[in-house]
Amino acid sequence: MQEDVISTRYIKVDPCCPDRTVIAEAALVLRRGGLVAFPTETVYGLGVNALDGTAAARLFAVKGRPADNPLIIHVAGRDMVFQLAGQVPEKAILLMDIFWPGPLTLVLPGGKGVPAWVTGGLDTVAIRMPDHPVALALIREAALPVAAPSANISGRPSPTTAGHVLCDLAGRIEVVLDGGPTGLGVESTVLDLTAPTPQILRPGGITPEDLQNVLGAVEVHPGIRAGSEWCGETRSPGLKYTHYAPDAPLLLVEGSPESVTAKIVDLARQYRAKGLRAGILSCNGRKEFYGEGEVLQAGGRDDPAAVAAGLYAALRRFDELAVDIILAEGIKDEGIGLAIMNRLRKAAGHRLLRV
Ligand code: TXA
Ligand code: MG
Repeated sequence: MQEDVISTRYIKVDPCCPDRTVIAEAALVLRRGGLVAFPTETVYGLGVNALDGTAAARLFAVKGRPADNPLIIHVAGRDMVFQLAGQVPEKAILLMDIFWPGPLTLVLPGGKGVPAWVTGGLDTVAIRMPDHPVALALIREAALPVAAPSANISGRPSPTTAGHVLCDLAGRIEVVLDGGPTGLGVESTVLDLTAPTPQILRPGGITPEDLQNVLGAVEVHPGIRAGSEWCGETRSPGLKYTHYAPDAPLLLVEGSPESVTAKIVDLARQYRAKGLRAGILSCNGRKEFYGEGEVLQAGGRDDPAAVAAGLYAALRRFDELAVDIILAEGIKDEGIGLAIMNRLRKAAGHRLLRV
């Protein structure tokens, strides 16, 4: 579908105490079926009225998103959950008590009155309450459930600043609310509560350990530790898509920090000898070991939260730098590290190296 170029209104908002007239203006755009990008505590979302199938269809066209990849519905209160889900199990209530507002998306049975464009035609619905004053104020003012995927073109890294959103979507959406950089930097955890044992379909801000402490048994979907080659059975359509395919191939090197650095130094030398420009993504705080060249650092030593916060911006930067290959350090697969490694493995596809 050919889209018209429209003028995108860019509005700065105070992330803690957003101006009411700005929120009212953006909420009106949502109520009229428009698209509004807004900050959440994870990444920027591209919001649309979750009950308006025509508006949701336009959102898919704007993002270039496959139609079978459903959207997360963002709510500002529990009443909306009871309106949207066919059933709200006790486990869901317990999790909402503890983790909402926050980066936990719950997959619940049967969407009532939710258009197929939002659910991807599934008999379930994914819902979360974001922990960000701008997102919450917008949803409350619109008085609507707001479906919001990450505000990027499909296949690009999720946006963690309003600048990233504009880079992908300027001229295609009505409004961007700029509330500064998002805090967490990776998306919410998606937990399927319709499975016999609760199953993590996408790792994110709330870790498997956090969930196990509350629920006891929690499974991690087997596709999560795989690269983009995963082709097993899945209840989460999002798992089968490469979320981020960098312009340059990404090679992910896993092992002890010392052996990973040694391998990357060696590989970078080989690529340079062939006249190729290698970009190095340091997640272990070992930037100083690599010397010259395009070395970007996401986070510092033993600080996976900082890696998460800086990851997508670094990946976008490598596209801008037009390197020929990206060599990325792996980190430990635990806590928020599971989410980081999941995104890096998907970006790497088959190019995973263990040393
Ligand atoms: O942190 C986040 O979750 C961000 C912010 C904006 O809230 N949103 C986000 O949305 O990451 P998106 O569309 O980029 O990812 C939604 C994920 C996809 O992997 C999708 O397949 C999964 O949620 N999903 C949505 N509805 C589902 C359902 N009913 N069953 C299983 N998975 C579902
Ligand atoms: Mg996304």
